[in-house]
Amino acid sequence: MAREVTHEERGPAVLDDDDKGDDGLIYVCQCGLSDTKPLCDGSHNATADEADGVVYKYPDDDPEAERREIDEIVYADE
Ligand code: FES
Repeated sequence: MAREVTHEERGPAVLDDDDKGDDGLIYVCQCGLSDTKPLCDGSHNATADEADGVVYKYPDDDPEAERREIDEIVYADE
């Protein structure tokens, strides 16, 4: 499984002690669906049943939206 997400940031995020959870760890989002990037907000739970070998798109990167499968990503200059 994989998913296409939209990133608008143009630089790094600086994390500090305030980003630590109650367990003292920092959880960085790797699914791309968090509303609190770069921190995980639990949105990855929506990806639990994604199938291997399939690319998904969640409209507006909303984990609660109805996802669809992407056959191919075609870029404008191709
Ligand atoms: S890994 Fe993306 S929200 Fe948790």
